[in-house]
Amino acid sequence: MITKNRGKEDKLFLDTADKDEIVKLSNFDWIKGVTTNPTLIRYVHKKRQSLIDEIEQEFDDKKLFVQVQGRSYKEMEEDFFYLLEVTSKTTGLKVPTTENGLELIQKIKNEHPERTVLATIVYSVEQGYLAGLVGCDWIAPYVNRMENQNINPYKIVQDIHQLYHVQNLSTKIMGASFKNQAQIRQTLLSGADTVTVPPIIIKSMMNNVLAEESLKVFQQHAQEEEI
Ligand code: G3P
Repeated sequence: MITKNRGKEDKLFLDTADKDEIVKLSNFDWIKGVTTNPTLIRYVHKKRQSLIDEIEQEFDDKKLFVQVQGRSYKEMEEDFFYLLEVTSKTTGLKVPTTENGLELIQKIKNEHPERTVLATIVYSVEQGYLAGLVGCDWIAPYVNRMENQNINPYKIVQDIHQLYHVQNLSTKIMGASFKNQAQIRQTLLSGADTVTVPPIIIKSMMNNVLAEESLKVFQQHAQEEEI
């Protein structure tokens, strides 16, 4: 049962580290910001730090999320301290939803409450629940990766949504890991507050093939009329 209706404020995010795409698509007010991870950054052959600097410079009213690196608590904490130094206060932190990650999230929320935290790599309702208990602002359920493992991501999103409601937890759900438009639609209809979407899928949403065909015919007729 879907009970929340937060409206336009949640907008949507770009899931990319491609600066050109970010600059181009950021003209749209409904793009709220950008989420990155080590894989996306590797893909554009850039150093994390230079990418952070470039994107922070571009962003005024939009939000960047950068992922904390490491697996052990010590590694994650060290990287968090580093990110505290080199990122703007408005830049959000993505933290893996593991035992060590949850411990770090607790520390961030206790000692740096001004920092927005997105708990990432969520594959289960239980991870979503714990991220909610620890006070995360957002969680990112990995939709396509769940489907690849024969897990129904929409049931997971729906259950987390419902659990947050009955437990009165204010954490929001940002669906992530998408390969097509249908996954995005189903995730939102399952109760996700927003989604983070690769630019290629946003473009396919804006450039519907049938609409393009109709437009071509209208354009032909408009030109014929001018003759
Ligand atoms: O935001 C999470 C996302 O980048 C993971 O996506 O396509 O690697 O499963 P993917």
